[in-house]
Amino acid sequence: MSIVLGFDVYGTLVDPLGLEREMEPLFGDRRKAACATWRQKQLEYSFRRGLMRCYEDFDACTRRALLFAAKTFKVDLPDSAKRQLLADYLSLPAFPDVVPALETLKASGCKLLAFSNGIERSLRTLLGNAGVLSFFEGVVSVDDIKTFKPNPDVYAYLTSRGGHSRGETWLVSANPFDVIGAKAAHLRSAWVRRDSEAVFDPWEFEPDIVVSDLKGLASELRSWTSP
Ligand code: LAC
Repeated sequence: MSIVLGFDVYGTLVDPLGLEREMEPLFGDRRKAACATWRQKQLEYSFRRGLMRCYEDFDACTRRALLFAAKTFKVDLPDSAKRQLLADYLSLPAFPDVVPALETLKASGCKLLAFSNGIERSLRTLLGNAGVLSFFEGVVSVDDIKTFKPNPDVYAYLTSRGGHSRGETWLVSANPFDVIGAKAAHLRSAWVRRDSEAVFDPWEFEPDIVVSDLKGLASELRSWTSP
């Protein structure tokens, strides 16, 4: 298939809520809620910084969001524990469907790019630790243009890095805000609905394809590109 697939990273390839074990010593039975707060604030900080045009990279958003979670749950977070959790964040686990799906998609001739708010150095470490870096022809970071998803400029940047038209450039993401951003910028998009309870925002934009995990993506794309 002569198309480019830009894969969102956090939530699509690796699980940003996958540090419950590491959070447990500090957050105890509130670790799950703390992981969710950490992730929610990380994204909120990126949105706000984008709107304010007050860029600070995604690693900084992640670090400040962890501090927010610690304050919210009234947990004392010594520097050593903070450093360790941020290091652990570079070893988030890949979802189990990711490796077989990327193998199939690569074999079918798609150009695979990782495409994320994260900074390139951290993304390369993260994807390497998760065992998936070698599937990608490139790592496209919004840090190159100093803004965040869902600014339309980042989807234009993905398109230019992929070297195909917008109609042949797909954003693959589990994050509805990301899918909507890509569609608003006239790319194609597949929503990975990892949680069957997940609700897609009822806006005027819809994904071209919905899959429950990445395993179903290759066949869906095949019928979409050659109906
Ligand atoms: C990313 C965030 C949005 O990887 O999940 O870009």
